[in-house]
Amino acid sequence: MKKENNTKPNNHIPTKVEKFEILKQKNEEALLGGGEKRITSQHKKGKLTARERIHLLLDEGSFEEIGKFVIHRGRDFGLDKEHYLGDGVVTGYGTINDRLVYVFSQDFTVFGGSLSESHAEKIVKIMDLAMKNGAPVIGLNDSGGARIQEGVVSLGGYADIFYRNTLASGVVPQISAIMGPCAGGAVYSPAITDFILMVENTSYMFVTGPNVVKTVTQETVTAEELGGASTHSTKSGVTHFSCANEVECLNTIKALLSYIPQNCEDDPPEVKYEQGSDETRKALNDIVPENPNQPYDMREVIEGIVDTDSFLEVHKNFAENIVVGFARLAGKSIGIIGNQPAALAGVLDIHASTKAARFVRFCDSFNVPLLVLEDVPGFLPGTDQEWNAIITNGAKLLYAFSEATVPRVTVITRKAYGGAYDVMNSKHIGADINYAWPTAEIAVMGAKGAAEIIFKKEIAAAEDPESKLDEKVDEYTRKFANPYKAAHRGYIDEVILPENTRKKLISSFKMLENKVDKLPRKKHGNIPL
Ligand code: HXC
Repeated sequence: MKKENNTKPNNHIPTKVEKFEILKQKNEEALLGGGEKRITSQHKKGKLTARERIHLLLDEGSFEEIGKFVIHRGRDFGLDKEHYLGDGVVTGYGTINDRLVYVFSQDFTVFGGSLSESHAEKIVKIMDLAMKNGAPVIGLNDSGGARIQEGVVSLGGYADIFYRNTLASGVVPQISAIMGPCAGGAVYSPAITDFILMVENTSYMFVTGPNVVKTVTQETVTAEELGGASTHSTKSGVTHFSCANEVECLNTIKALLSYIPQNCEDDPPEVKYEQGSDETRKALNDIVPENPNQPYDMREVIEGIVDTDSFLEVHKNFAENIVVGFARLAGKSIGIIGNQPAALAGVLDIHASTKAARFVRFCDSFNVPLLVLEDVPGFLPGTDQEWNAIITNGAKLLYAFSEATVPRVTVITRKAYGGAYDVMNSKHIGADINYAWPTAEIAVMGAKGAAEIIFKKEIAAAEDPESKLDEKVDEYTRKFANPYKAAHRGYIDEVILPENTRKKLISSFKMLENKVDKLPRKKHGNIPL
């Protein structure tokens, strides 16, 4: 830090040795951020410093800092007397598993990590470099928000960042880890990025804090309840990953990057893999229960198909009726979207639709092929869903799939009913290969609902309406609760045994490897928001 304290006479011109010494001192000073006392206080809160985080995130010795000696230009409210080298954010580039990344890490020990004009410029500089050089940007956020003493120039700095977040969207992957406060308008930078990670109990995000909430709505709520990791990973879906601690958070960033390419022109990295055992494949035959109304866990299907231990689930605790995440098939990345019969019977609702749509958009932006595992009884009925616009939100998923040009494969494991059949990567909206297991039921609706409608009069007129209904349910089931009507039409390319699914998928994704598909010329589409 520097409160002004110059002991040398003003007219002394340093010798070369002294110049080298000055540099050494400045480097040492910069490393201390806001000073030992504040670093201790940061540690006491269970938080690492900005530099410790970078050290854990990047390959050993790979970090090259940019803008280490930048200081703020503020003059008001005492800022002219106090400045810190680096001004509350450590920025630069380095590698993760030998791949280039750009990183900024806010330093809470300097004015609470608050964003000044200079602080914003440093972030902007590395974002511009990342876009020009095609590599991911990782932001480690820990900040009290706008530098209050600087006023509007700080707000302008935020807007400069938001603007670049938007321009960079779909060009390079952007990842935000929230490792302390992130409040007010500051939340909108992470919100535009591709993935948000939060650390449990030490991070929070909200547009207005508990005090303002109390004043405006009379609600009493803690910061953790209002915007902590568990809230945003379960209730709002704002965060994609909720991490037990900072180390887990930084490791999750590394894991995430291992599935995704450097930029939109690049392909995801390929890794060595193990085939897995025949027993694992055979076990797939036993997952779908005999009774079509009995749940099972779609994660078991995923584990049975993909490379051993390669599934990284995204948004794990939010909208659990749909499972999304990255995995590898024969060492290559895929994005998986699977209905989850174990939660709400795998129904599509507002949150499931938006969660899956956002994931599909990410994968399509960054050349990650899509695998859909389908077991969906339809869209969730009810006033809550209708009044909160399941129509618009369901359309997001339909739109996202329809617009995706990456290789797209679907496996229908059981139910594919109604509009949800169309939406879940059907052939009709551009899927490349569609498989079904023999247990698939592809129909407008479940047999009981269907029989009640189309045989309404016959059932009512019957001597024993209940046994008539059973008879008609059986008839409908025999006719439609199978994949063959769809296969006759070519809507399903092949009906396959579950145990063969991995082999079939490896083959079809390989066949689709060089897929080129172009959308009609347009400025941009108008996804229903
Ligand atoms: C300048 C700040 C600051 C800020 C904190 N500090 N926030 N300095 N601008 N925004 C300084 C404190 O003065 C203190 O300095 C040090 O950082 C640590 O802060 P503490 O309050 O001691 O820490 P803690 O108790 O952990 O509380 C953290 C906090 C609190 C909850 C973040 O500091 C706080 O409420 N800050 C203000 C938050 C805020 O209202 N920001 C503006 C939001 S509006 P010393 O010298 O003692 O170490 C906004 C608009 C963005 O951000 C708009 C974008 C469009």
